[in-house]
Amino acid sequence: MPAPVRVLSLAGATVQVFAEVPLACRAVADRIAQVTRSALDTRGRAILGLATGSTPIPVYARLIELHRAGELSFANVTTYNLDEYYPISPLDSNSYRSFMYKHLFGQIDLPPNRAHLLDGSIPEAFAAEQAAAYDRWIAADGGLDLQLLGLGRNGHIGFNEPSDLPVAEALALGTRLTHLDPITRADAAKDFGGEDKVIPRALTLGVAPILAARTILIAAFGPNKADAVARSLTGPTTARVPGSLLQTVPGKVTWYLDEASAKGL
Ligand code: F6R
Repeated sequence: MPAPVRVLSLAGATVQVFAEVPLACRAVADRIAQVTRSALDTRGRAILGLATGSTPIPVYARLIELHRAGELSFANVTTYNLDEYYPISPLDSNSYRSFMYKHLFGQIDLPPNRAHLLDGSIPEAFAAEQAAAYDRWIAADGGLDLQLLGLGRNGHIGFNEPSDLPVAEALALGTRLTHLDPITRADAAKDFGGEDKVIPRALTLGVAPILAARTILIAAFGPNKADAVARSLTGPTTARVPGSLLQTVPGKVTWYLDEASAKGL
């Protein structure tokens, strides 16, 4: 596993700072492999919470390498993705279902009926029912062994966007249909060919099921993330910065950063 250049202990989390992003991504992938193998050894199955976005792409590339080298099998793994645009067809190239198939699922031995994503094509009247069922499926699977997260420029985790909710209410947020923050829409503009074309709503795993994962890995790289990283790790616990809600689960969060994203620490 690649070694960080610095390790900090902040806000109940371990913070690993790497000299280069590829090394950090490799460390994230190796940790996912380690948690997966250990869950497979002890329980015969592993339950992983996965993210999309640009950050995890090299992480998934490394997991595929490990799989091809015969070092990691997903045959007894179950995955739950964090979020999906709403409404969107699973066949749309911007759907997170397509993203996951392209960057991971299509290249590993994960059984298709155990690769779960929230369905962006469900009728709106059933969105709440689907969201509640998703939380129940995770619970029925024994909870997430690991949740992989990226961090939005606005500090979001999943599509749990900044809000004025009291902390206790933010911590209790379940999986649901939600509206994207203007910063999230601006960041997605390149994928949709313009900010006005970005689908403004999404289904997201809630804060509560994210924080219930037994291990949480969060990766954020580059200068654009420095402010959100600093506010998550050195600011107060507040729903204005959803990443700061990770401070409420000390001992199970590891941050993977590069020098640029760690600049404000
Ligand atoms: C993706 C997700 C988002 C991203 C975040 C960072 O499933 O839930 O919270 O992790 O927006 O995105 P990137 O990695 O593209 O900077």
